[in-house]
Amino acid sequence: MKVPVFLPSRLLSTIPFAISVLIAAPVLYLTPVMAQDTPTFYQDALPVFMNNCAACHQENPPDVGGISAPMSLMNYEEARIWAPLIKHALMTGYMPPWGAHERHRGEFKGERYIDKKDKDLLIAWVDGGALEGDPDAANADLKTASVGTAMPESGWWIGEPDLIVGFEKPVYVGPDVEDWQPTVHMPVPEGTHENPRWISKAELDPGGPWVHHIVSSHMGVGVPGRGPFEYPDGWGVLLPDDPFITVNMHYHKNTGEGTEVIDNTRAGFKFYEEGDVIDYVVETNLLPHRKWTIPAGHPNYEVNNTFDIEEDIYLLSMGPHMHYRGKAMRYEVEYPDGEREVLLWVPDYDFNWQFLYEYETPKFLPAGSTLHMSWWFDNSEGNPWNPDPTKDVVYGPATTDEMANARIYFAPTIPRGLVVGRDLPQDVLEQARLEEQMRRDRSTILVQSEDDFSWLTEESE
Ligand code: HEC
Repeated sequence: MKVPVFLPSRLLSTIPFAISVLIAAPVLYLTPVMAQDTPTFYQDALPVFMNNCAACHQENPPDVGGISAPMSLMNYEEARIWAPLIKHALMTGYMPPWGAHERHRGEFKGERYIDKKDKDLLIAWVDGGALEGDPDAANADLKTASVGTAMPESGWWIGEPDLIVGFEKPVYVGPDVEDWQPTVHMPVPEGTHENPRWISKAELDPGGPWVHHIVSSHMGVGVPGRGPFEYPDGWGVLLPDDPFITVNMHYHKNTGEGTEVIDNTRAGFKFYEEGDVIDYVVETNLLPHRKWTIPAGHPNYEVNNTFDIEEDIYLLSMGPHMHYRGKAMRYEVEYPDGEREVLLWVPDYDFNWQFLYEYETPKFLPAGSTLHMSWWFDNSEGNPWNPDPTKDVVYGPATTDEMANARIYFAPTIPRGLVVGRDLPQDVLEQARLEEQMRRDRSTILVQSEDDFSWLTEESE
């Protein structure tokens, strides 16, 4: 009798016990063990879906920054129908969605990696015919477990905000609009914010799936796949009295009759409470590089930039940003002694998922270090997202233009020890006010005339 050469890899990796049996037991037992062992939904796949996918793929899926997962993987019927695409999404690494290379495992908050053995098991489940198995044999806990990611009743992931701001009136995104990026003011409602306060959390609540992404003056970037902003304890941003809050909306939708929408995006803030201590006043820099032209058809165009670090800082997070031609991105640090270290490697950049990579423990970068940023672009026709491979492309705001940004959030390492409600140093307040003033001066705000809503007659409501 011949020993079968094919062994499902999951047997080898998930059941160390089986390996010892295989080694010790006569060959005879092999075949029956394998036949019974075609993975089934309830016995094998469900626990893996639960741990790796259900946070998004559940009944009433959560809205992750404007999009939600199209099916529940807690439900056998749905999982079966989607089985071929599940295999595809796993093999291509499209799911679970995460951009940072495996080498960064354990470094960033909210990382999403699937273990090889779990991935192999799901693929084996699909290949084995996506069998149902015995619902009663499933671990009872699993079937009834709540995945714990249901949107809280307040409608905000950060909990009931201390301050909510929104548009003065809804933005009308007309039928002809395909790609539009107005900057819209979000005035603070009268009497809701009279004194400077320290932001601990901020969240954007996109009006709907037509919102592709939002860049905001005070809340960073709101995009598919990005949760709320929660600063680590003791890290904060000062929202002065009379702030100038704006959002640069990026609307993207189909065109034609009936495609118009009314957008009511909102933003919410949670503040530190009296007596809390702020040690790290968060600063951000977009680190854009604008001077390049990607030649038409180029499959792998590289852009490089550097940034000198002048004082000791803790790097809190990194947010690479490109558009449809974005292919890969890397942040490296060169220490004063010349040694280099890769801080972030995104080998397969996907503009649909603009992740912010936030350190579990902010990273110390000494004064005298240099950041080296590299972006790679695919402007060839081999890139299915490429709007036009026959065009040279430069930096610009439209999605059909490109960008090479490398946002960082950081703070100087010397703790400030500011007690909320007690100390508000003049320099901190002035800096915050200055930034508001710069925003006021720089912003070109969308002016919505009354006529914009002439279409909104009583009949149409
Ligand atoms: C962070 C939330 C999230 C997690 C975790 C996640 N997904 Fe998804 N998934 C989505 C969203 C949102 C979509 C729809 C948008 C899209 O297709 O880009 C999607 C789409 C899919 C699709 C359809 C892809 C297609 O080609 O249309 C498949 C299949 C899928 N997910 C499988 C999985 C599997 C399997 C896992 C776990 C290993 C997983 N997902 C984990 C959010 C998630």
